[in-house]
Amino acid sequence: MTSVLPQEIAAPSRLSFPQGFRWGAATASYQIEGAATEDGRTPSIWDTMSREPGRVFRNHSGDVACDHYHRYRDDVRLMSELGLGTYRFSVAWPRIKPDGSGPVNPRGLDFYDRLVDELLANGIAPMVTLYHWDLPQVLEDRGGWANRDTAYYLADLAAATIARLGDRVASWTTLNEPWCSAFLGYASGDHAPGRRDPQAAYLAAHHLLLGHGLAAQALRAGGARELSIVHVLTRVNPQNPHDPHDRDAASLVDGLQNRIWLDPVLRGHYPADILPLFERFGAADAIRDGDLDVISTPIDLLGVNYYQPALVRAKVGAVGQSNYPGSEGIDFPPQGLPVTGMDWPIDATGLGDTLVRLSRDYPGTPLMITENGSAYHDILEGDRVADPDRIAYFDGHLRAVHKAIERGADVRGYLAWSLMDNFEWAYGYDKRFGLVYVDYDTQRRVPKDSARWYSQVIRDNGL
Ligand code: NOJ
Repeated sequence: MTSVLPQEIAAPSRLSFPQGFRWGAATASYQIEGAATEDGRTPSIWDTMSREPGRVFRNHSGDVACDHYHRYRDDVRLMSELGLGTYRFSVAWPRIKPDGSGPVNPRGLDFYDRLVDELLANGIAPMVTLYHWDLPQVLEDRGGWANRDTAYYLADLAAATIARLGDRVASWTTLNEPWCSAFLGYASGDHAPGRRDPQAAYLAAHHLLLGHGLAAQALRAGGARELSIVHVLTRVNPQNPHDPHDRDAASLVDGLQNRIWLDPVLRGHYPADILPLFERFGAADAIRDGDLDVISTPIDLLGVNYYQPALVRAKVGAVGQSNYPGSEGIDFPPQGLPVTGMDWPIDATGLGDTLVRLSRDYPGTPLMITENGSAYHDILEGDRVADPDRIAYFDGHLRAVHKAIERGADVRGYLAWSLMDNFEWAYGYDKRFGLVYVDYDTQRRVPKDSARWYSQVIRDNGL
């Protein structure tokens, strides 16, 4: 009989990720930079929104945020200590083009130039997002994303940015979560510019996608080696899968959360069941001949942001949700799951199923998890932040990613949201998503237990 060592019995089986799997973390300009008026930056729609009393938790703003604009060197050192291989960040449009559409402000680009050099010097690959929600206010004053011109201005921003950084940055993302920009920005009004106008929301949806396509072409012309778009995607289940009304309700929400963003880019057309909503809200004329050819410009990678699953039922008389314009008669019942500090239900199978579904329904496009993470009520005690719930969240979701890869999903990497605590939009600084704790009084950074844990995952390329 062969003898078995006790530690072999006790050791949990190790999960290894594919060789070359990319590990990293993500942030966004308005959420971390601060320096809101420096070096020629003009206000964005979030500067405006955070100045309107009552729009953002305790009227917080991104004026200072994590002061990353001045502390980026220390922050890159932190990334390097954590062992990140990829850092996903966004550029602030109002720094690079202070009047939205006109001349480039070289001082705005200088900052990203320095940041990219610092990252490369530390062996960290930059992944640049062009638009993570900080539209110059001057463009909103001209109609924002409801105005078709904005799509062309995004392409100009793309050309200017890659002209400066393209010799060192290989990976480029056009948009982050256009669902939020269009439906939270222009329908529910929870995000800047805070409008409640479903027609504007559908116009914005199309113009964002058009902007993606035009920017993708400009980035490709500028030499981008890896082109992507990032969507917030999820699994949408009907509460009662045997009830056709619940199934229809779930299919509509799936259409508005997932397919309206995926099909035009990856299939070259809007989903047939969603197109009538453009009609209904008076936005169908915005879709012009040739637009879908531009929108379906080939990309190299699809970025998936995942936080929570969705459960949907049909309910006579329900008003629907304004962040899904056109969802009357649809209701979102409680899911009976544990929740994060955002009250978002936790279910890692929603991520795994989403990844498998994407590889099945949109084959040929590699996937990357460009955001995943959770907010909790973290407390700094001495030099330590114990955040076991966040570790459990990451662990569960990474196991689901591993399983999805075994089920055939083509997943190339995982980026945690977020590198550090930051301005969580309408929730201000109240919600902390970071691997690294930020003490906003002193700007001191303290890696949480989850940061050390994640570092080990990266070192092991597995769990
Ligand atoms: C998605 C967004 O891209 C990011 O800006 C935000 O902070 C996280 N979700 C958490 O809500």
